[in-house]
Amino acid sequence: MELLIALGDIYDATRLIPVTSVHISGASYKTIGDAGLKFLSEICKGCHTKAKSTVNPIGMDRERYEEMKVTEEFVSKQKEIIDHYKSLGVLDSWTCTPYLIGNRPGLGEDIAWAESSAVVFANSVLGARTNREGGPSALASSITGLTPDYGLHREDNRKGNALFELDFELEEKDFASLGSFAGEICGTRTPYFRNLSASEDNLKTLSAALASSGSVSMFHVEGLTPEWKLGYEEDCEKVTVERKDLEEIANSWNTNDSPNLIAFGCPHCSTAELKRIADMLRDGWKGPELWVCTSREACRKAPDSVQEIDKQGKVLCDTCVIVSSVEDFSETVATNSGKASTYLPSLCKQKTMFDDMETLIRRFQ
Ligand code: F3S
Repeated sequence: MELLIALGDIYDATRLIPVTSVHISGASYKTIGDAGLKFLSEICKGCHTKAKSTVNPIGMDRERYEEMKVTEEFVSKQKEIIDHYKSLGVLDSWTCTPYLIGNRPGLGEDIAWAESSAVVFANSVLGARTNREGGPSALASSITGLTPDYGLHREDNRKGNALFELDFELEEKDFASLGSFAGEICGTRTPYFRNLSASEDNLKTLSAALASSGSVSMFHVEGLTPEWKLGYEEDCEKVTVERKDLEEIANSWNTNDSPNLIAFGCPHCSTAELKRIADMLRDGWKGPELWVCTSREACRKAPDSVQEIDKQGKVLCDTCVIVSSVEDFSETVATNSGKASTYLPSLCKQKTMFDDMETLIRRFQ
């Protein structure tokens, strides 16, 4: 409660409001280390969640960690972290796409979510209301069921304030590049996209890329997302997006063309994505190690796809390439994700190869 009140004071909130849903980040031993583990052990003791709470990926698949080349010490510390979250009563989730496994708040619901890609998706695609929480503040909201009332909880702050107009149709891989392009320009502002058609999986990709190149928490797509009619500030920056802008970004993510790992599922794959990958892999696979990261719940819903992918590569649950110890055995990762392309060099010391899912799979068949 002290943490939330301090946060409210910083942002001039006048009250705390109840939340119906929480998503917590900071669960991989790789990212939180011993300091995070100590913090969790102290804060979780004797506490229980008051709001429906899910939690982000950890550093390993809980069932297949032996295939992930993690050390014994890592496994043991990671298990301690899992136990702390479980004692708190968070749902057995370990995914960055809580909205695909039943933690899917609706329009106008006040929530407290960490994990920047999920924050952007929740605000923009679901119309729920959350600030970009950090792991500790989301944890505090889980325990108290409250969050300070400021920022994106207030409708006045949910208008677009940078307009992006497109005059060409996007291909699948462009959603990652567009997110990175707009995120870099926007910083903390809210982009409003015009002339954009997209599937929910496209918007998942866009959300993650917007949140990783900038500090975007929300976007609107004219005619598509639930609050687009809030519009944009008349005097805001206006940008015409050209194909070459997106190509430049995609090229910058191609620093090596011989990957030793191909990783899909950043953010975690939906069941539709699992099915697409499985269908393509039926034509065989001659490529390097293949990781497809997703939630355990998505696996339960798509057992045939999982079985097919596992013949050629690994479906890994509970984890992802960024929060695992990939740097211990890999130098170059190929991915279709803008967020992974941004973080692999800085957080995992990797070179990257970037393209859409189909191009990457066909190239190695
Ligand atoms: Fe999710 Fe890991 Fe990417 S947490 S958004 S798959 S970096």
